[in-house]
Parts: sequence; structure tokens; C-alpha cells
Amino acid sequence: MKLLDGKKCAESLVADIARKVAGYEESGLRKPHMTVILVGEHAPSESYVKSKIKSCEKAGFEGTLLRFPDTIREAELLEKIAEINADQTTDGLIVQLPLPRHINQQHIINAIAPEKDIDGFHPTNFGRMTLGQKAFRPATAYGICKLLQFYEIPVWGKHCVVIGRSNIVGKPISIMLSNDFDIGNATVTLTHIETPRELLLDETRRADIVIVAVGIPGFVTEDMVKEGVVVIDVGINRLEDGKIVGDVDFENVQKKCSWITPVPGGVGRMTVAALMINTLMAYQNNFD
Ligand code: GUN
Repeated sequence: MKLLDGKKCAESLVADIARKVAGYEESGLRKPHMTVILVGEHAPSESYVKSKIKSCEKAGFEGTLLRFPDTIREAELLEKIAEINADQTTDGLIVQLPLPRHINQQHIINAIAPEKDIDGFHPTNFGRMTLGQKAFRPATAYGICKLLQFYEIPVWGKHCVVIGRSNIVGKPISIMLSNDFDIGNATVTLTHIETPRELLLDETRRADIVIVAVGIPGFVTEDMVKEGVVVIDVGINRLEDGKIVGDVDFENVQKKCSWITPVPGGVGRMTVAALMINTLMAYQNNFD
């Protein structure tokens, strides 16, 4: 078994970006700039946002965190987004999810200018990504592709089973891996909470690559996978004792794997690196 080291891969990608940014600065250009909006207090979001801003520093970007109380009205948040959309010095805008219940998440996503939507959640980007056109690709899914590419894991012609159909991970990774587009050309089965157990087992047991994003510790067990499988664990779950674990019973499943991502240090690090790639792309698009 070999580890798909997301930390190592992310550091290498961010170092490449930092070199490019240094070159732009030498030519007298401003730094790429990412703005992150955080509404309310949500411990996991606090930690994700912190790592995004820290990664901006490492990449040589300007990173701005805008905090709003969870009492902010949807209309006020929409106004703030419109201001940032119009601001020539911000290249990428993220609104950290989840949002308080009184704010309609889709209204907020739709309000972000597609050319600043580095999360790739806007219907324009999601549609373009689905069609195999140039787009900002959702960062976790894109990060998984980059990790597979970094370790030269073959995807073409392989059978990938994705567990979880979220708009953030499951759906986009299914589309990206099945597209005829850089890392793709896999045969993908997208399973979800309503997939009957027997059908799920039939699929995962013959999968070459299993990608799980369900938010349930230990969901993927040893009996669900075949020898030599590649396992990508997207879960980040905090147990009562404070320990962070993924969606895979790592200790037992790893015995059967050719490759597996650790948690932490796997996909989580790649999400942030992919956001940096998207931000650099948004920045470069200004000059195209
Ligand atoms: N919450 C959990 N993951 C994400 C993400 O990738 N982007 C945003 N904006 N919020 C999230």
C-alpha cells in the first residue's frame, strides 16, 4: 500500500504557483487576490477558511477574509457580493458554506460573478465543466484529479465508483472523471444514500477506484473493496475525542489498497491547492 500524500502534492503545486506569482510581481503586476466571506460561527468553516488564507500567503497571493454575523440578511450579503464582483482588485471570491438557514444558498452562489467563482459552484461554471469546456472546476473534485495525476494513477478505462452525490464533490468528480478531458475517460458509477446496499456492494467490490464523500466515519469497510483498489477518502469527520477521521475504516481497508489517501493530509490539502490554481487562472484571465 502506498499513501497518496496530499500535503506533499499540494506543497509542490503551491510552490509552482508562488514561482509564477513572483515572476508577475517582477514584471510590476499586482498579486492575485482571493476574498473569502465567512458568515456566522461554524467551527469546521473557521478551520477551512484559516487554511485558505494561510495558503494564500504561501502562494504569494493577497488573501482577504470578510466576516459577517449570522444575523446578516440575504439582501445585505447579496449587496456585498455585488461590490466584490465590481472590485477590479479581487480575482476570486468564495462564500464559505454552509450558510445560516435564513439565507438561500443558491441565491448567493448565483450572485457571484462566474469569472470570480473560484469554487466552480455557479451554474455557468458547473455547466461549462459538465460540457467539457474551460471552467473553474469545483476545488475538491479538481484537487482529487490533480492528486491522481501527481502520482500517475491511471484513470483512463478504469471503473470508478463514487459514493455520495453532493454538488460540491460527488457530482463534479463523477463528471470530471467520465469526461474526455485531461484526467478522465473513466467509466464512472455514481452511488448515493438511496442506492440499495446490495447494489452498492456489487459496484464497490469491482471498482478500480473508490471515491467516498458521505461524512460518515468508517463507512467504507474492508469487505467492500477488492485487492489492489485505489481509495480516495474525502471525509473530514471530528470524533468525540477530537480525532479527525475520514469516511474509510483506514486501518483495515488500507491492507487491500494499492493506493489510499490519509485523513488528515489527503484530499483536504488538495482542495485548498486546487483553489489556488483556480485563483491564479482567474487572475491570468484578466490579462487574456
Ligand atoms: N464548505 C465545504 N466545502 C466547501 C467548499 O469547497 N467551498 C465552499 N465555499 N464552502 C465549502
